[in-house]
Amino acid sequence: MDDLKSKYLTLIADAGDESGLEELRVQALGKKGEISLQMRELGKMTPQERQTAGPALNALKDEINSALIAKKSALGDAALDERLRGEWLDVTLPARDRPVGSIHPITQVTEEVTAIFADMGFSVAEGPQIESDWYNFDALNIPGHHPARAEMDTFYTHRADGDDRPPHVLRTHTSPVQIRSLEANGAPIRIICPGRVYRADYDQTHTPMFHQVEGLAIDKDISMANLKWVLEEFVKAFFEVDDVELRFRASHFPFTEPSAEVDIRCSWEGGTLKVGEGDDWLEILGSGMVHPKVLQAAGVDPSVYQGFAFGVGIDRIAMLKYGIPDLRAFFDSDLRWLRHYGFRSLDVPTLHGGLSK
Ligand code: PHE
Repeated sequence: MDDLKSKYLTLIADAGDESGLEELRVQALGKKGEISLQMRELGKMTPQERQTAGPALNALKDEINSALIAKKSALGDAALDERLRGEWLDVTLPARDRPVGSIHPITQVTEEVTAIFADMGFSVAEGPQIESDWYNFDALNIPGHHPARAEMDTFYTHRADGDDRPPHVLRTHTSPVQIRSLEANGAPIRIICPGRVYRADYDQTHTPMFHQVEGLAIDKDISMANLKWVLEEFVKAFFEVDDVELRFRASHFPFTEPSAEVDIRCSWEGGTLKVGEGDDWLEILGSGMVHPKVLQAAGVDPSVYQGFAFGVGIDRIAMLKYGIPDLRAFFDSDLRWLRHYGFRSLDVPTLHGGLSK
């Protein structure tokens, strides 16, 4: 018994890992283990022999068992220590300088525009991108035969065979959100509606999906003068210049009367755009006083309420402000482009903190 004891205690002390330890356990205490076989011998002994051998064997068994358990936990501790050494981390290291992801210029510009209009008391409204032709056209005073429907290169969805309701469209502008918001909240209202719009068009300055932000302000005494002031404030804040000259050019939209397209004074000297100086004019948005029929369609009484609306191409003003020459690249997901034109994710645009820096 003493031999068995010293043999196993040495083997256990020398075991290098948990599987080696398990083998030793089987070898000593398993069904056919050395100590188990000894236990079986007890049956052949005389009662007197058994009285001393029995307790001694049990004590040996217990001792080996506790040695196994102690060694097992020591091996576990050692493994944990090893892991902690390997997974050690210096939390005092400075954070990585370049964030892995970046904010897309469209998102950046949408947030800049939102910050500017929020400061003037406009809140943000959204609407669906798949729109009924009522909201996209009819309610905006664009009846079925109107040429504007063809001009907009609309994407139509299909109806099932035999269903002759008019098909839904991918909205061609953000103007349907005017109707939805007026229906839901009534007048007075002051909102901007940024979002995706769709037209079948593709070249350097057109992609089949692009972005607009609609503005709408309706109240009892809103005039064209308010529209002019709001747009001037917007353009100055957006292009981060102190002064800018706007030119209102008479135009036509079915949903506004009168309608105006707005140009800003700029120069292209040396191939770079400078806003607010020079002899060129750059068209940046469409606008006007909301047509009485549009207010009516949205359930607002045009003899009490009036106001203005405008629509700006987000992609277009992003290209202008940040000198991005080709619109198609916006949607290519090219990592090199995204790193070059993207913005740091922690720099949230605000009027007081700076929009773009
Ligand atoms: N919805 C027009 C377009 O997409 C822009 C616009 C909006 C014009 C609001 C006037 C008023 O071209």
